[in-house]
Amino acid sequence: MNKKIIALLLLVAVCAAQEIQNGPIVRVPIIKRARTEAQNKSLLYRLKGIYDNIIDKIFGRRYNSYPEVKVQNYVDLQYFGEVSIGTPAQIFTVVLDTGSSDLWVPGTPCNSLPCLVHNKFNPKKSSTYIDTGKPFSIQYGTGAVKGTVANETVSLGGLTAKNVQFANAHQLSADFQNTKFDGILGLAYQQLSNIGGLPVFDQLVSQGLVAQDVFSFYFSDKENSNDSELVLGGIDYAYNSTAFKYYPVVLQAWYVIAADSIQIGNLNLKLNTAIVDSGTSVIVGDAAVLNPIIKLFPSNINCAQINTFPNLTINISGDNYVLGPQDYIVEIDLQGQTQCLLGFQVLELPSQLGNSIILGDTFFRKYYTVYDRANNRVGFALANHSNNKSQ
Ligand SMILES: *[C@@H]1O[C@H](CO)[C@@H](O)[C@H](O)[C@H]1NC(C)=O
Ligand SMILES: *[C@@H]1O[C@H](CO)[C@@H](O)[C@H](O)[C@H]1NC(C)=O
Ligand SMILES: *[C@@H]1O[C@H](CO)[C@@H](O)[C@H](O)[C@H]1NC(C)=O
Ligand SMILES: *[C@@H]1O[C@H](CO)[C@@H](O)[C@H](O)[C@H]1NC(C)=O
Ligand SMILES: *[C@@H]1O[C@H](CO)[C@@H](O)[C@H](O)[C@H]1NC(C)=O
Ligand SMILES: *[C@@H]1O[C@H](CO)[C@@H](O)[C@H](O)[C@H]1NC(C)=O
Ligand SMILES: *[C@@H]1O[C@H](CO)[C@@H](O)[C@H](O)[C@H]1NC(C)=O
Repeated sequence: MNKKIIALLLLVAVCAAQEIQNGPIVRVPIIKRARTEAQNKSLLYRLKGIYDNIIDKIFGRRYNSYPEVKVQNYVDLQYFGEVSIGTPAQIFTVVLDTGSSDLWVPGTPCNSLPCLVHNKFNPKKSSTYIDTGKPFSIQYGTGAVKGTVANETVSLGGLTAKNVQFANAHQLSADFQNTKFDGILGLAYQQLSNIGGLPVFDQLVSQGLVAQDVFSFYFSDKENSNDSELVLGGIDYAYNSTAFKYYPVVLQAWYVIAADSIQIGNLNLKLNTAIVDSGTSVIVGDAAVLNPIIKLFPSNINCAQINTFPNLTINISGDNYVLGPQDYIVEIDLQGQTQCLLGFQVLELPSQLGNSIILGDTFFRKYYTVYDRANNRVGFALANHSNNKSQ
């Protein structure tokens, strides 16, 4: 990872977001890679045993006029969707990740274990595959993916875009051996793309396939349910129980918004920015921000005492977003035993972001999130979980 470039980009971008919008495209590998490195160390890693329990792959259109991608809720920790690539379609389970911008899936000829345990794309079985010959490589914390960039027909939520650039990955590091997703579909800005072409959602927009340059994520609070949705082209108003409040994206690479503070118990810590990231399971943040918070908790949390812990309030432009202990503590069943894990994870974020946190899925279960690309803003509203469509 080229830290200098990241630092430069962020410095310029945070100081003068306007300039970066019109400036040259800067390709930056993703910082967040909490997913793999942190997986190993903490929450997700500890849960690996129950990954085997993964539910079936989902795909489908829903009731309203927007195309929607059903999203699987895997024990409240990670959300996957389905994408099809090629002609005829080859289907993959991917992380729908607003913290990165490339689409990659494992492909032939890859015969290492991480590829063998996943669906693999076979270019020979697709009549629309065009190898661009361009190499692809992305570094995620401890993990890495390498492959070649191809142009292909890609379908998401029933919308089919042509000439979408994706990476057919031939080399996956061992980190990907235990994942229940095949690959990753990035929904962040083109600026973050290692491939460099238009990301999938941008292609859907440029090919006139979505109603508006907007997508939104509703995350169900029900485990192993099919109720969560990525809505392409708009908002599903069945799922918000307050009006949306919007915040400008101050750095258009990840979805970075300005944030004021995070408060819990007697602690009130200053924040500068928050990264809105569907690909992260929990609240991730700088040590300066999260360590004092983590210290408030015992190392083993007794599930029976969850309700004795205080609310956590994130102040964004004067608006208070409250997570109760039942939101930020992740309760899971492991072989018949309920365990309660604190959903905070320390990770070094680029210092140019200032005191920063990544808002992950524990936040999005409570707040339905809109990515309004047309206006470069992110919106939050309290989610209404009583309206799950499968009920
Ligand atoms: C995962 O953690 C184990 C034990 O701490 C370590 O030996 C291993 O190298 C780590 N793997 C990765 C990919 O970081
Ligand atoms: C691949 O698709 C991009 C648009 O996504 C296009 O600009 C490029 O010319 C295509 N390359 C080939 C080899 O078809
Ligand atoms: C989710 O959808 C899949 C495929 O449609 C189905 O097999 C599975 O039973 C569903 N799961 C739940 C919890 O509804
Ligand atoms: C949530 O949705 C249900 C069902 O449509 C509705 O009755 C209820 O008023 C909604 N709750 C809020 C707070 O909007
Ligand atoms: C859902 O959001 C829309 C747009 O902000 C708002 O008009 C509507 O009143 C919200 N629904 C509820 C139940 O508050
Ligand atoms: C925590 O937040 C909830 C919802 O905003 C509120 O009803 C409750 O009173 C708060 N609890 C405390 C201890 O402040
Ligand atoms: C939120 O942060 C702003 C700016 O720091 C501050 O003026 C405001 O008082 C804070 N609001 C609350 C409710 O803490």
